[in-house]
Amino acid sequence: MKKVKIGVLVSGSGSNLQSIIDQIEQGRLQAEIKVVISNNPNAYALERASRHHLAVQVVNHLDFRQREDFDRQMIEVLMACDVELVVLAGFMRVLTPLFLHSFSRRVLNIHPALLPAFPGLHVQQQALEYGVKFAGCTVHFVDDGVDTGPIIIQAVVPVFDDDTEDTLAARILREEHRIYPQAIQFYAEGRLEVQGRKVVVADVRQSDDKASYNPPVVIFTT
Ligand code: GRF
Repeated sequence: MKKVKIGVLVSGSGSNLQSIIDQIEQGRLQAEIKVVISNNPNAYALERASRHHLAVQVVNHLDFRQREDFDRQMIEVLMACDVELVVLAGFMRVLTPLFLHSFSRRVLNIHPALLPAFPGLHVQQQALEYGVKFAGCTVHFVDDGVDTGPIIIQAVVPVFDDDTEDTLAARILREEHRIYPQAIQFYAEGRLEVQGRKVVVADVRQSDDKASYNPPVVIFTT
């Protein structure tokens, strides 16, 4: 099967980048990372990429006066590397319409909340303060809003009474590492169809027998 050529944009630790690399190396994700771009020269993600001999490029947003100029530079790098799909993995800058038009419906993001609840920043803390019983993560296509694009996959985790921002973030992150490579694989297989706000994944079996309850309840069947 043909591999999808991806460019991964990072700003920080790069644990999602790592999960993508691992799934590719294990033959479970038909993708090729053509370049990793970081806006942050000190991002640990860059070390992870180099360790796996990937092409890396720092495009520091502080070097650009206008957001469009920063985006234009990234577009140039991505196009020179023949990237088909842009994967935002812990990338902390908002892209301009200029960028999104260059890669229309070809930019994915992962967000550590169950959108449309808690868009933006520090969302695990917001979820705790709100008192939700479930949290989770979302992979979505990027549109020109912040965390508003059509949703591809979500995963749900429970929120426990004694959770801190860190324990909840870690529980969510484990799910991020599972669903992001899966979403990219769906894209690679050409199985994602956007119908307005809705993304339909071709050929998935859906069932309601794994519903989640909080607090957990025992269902008696007679
Ligand atoms: C993740 O929760 C991601 O969803 C968010 O930043 C966090 C760190 O990601 N946007 P990573 O370890 O840099 O992939």
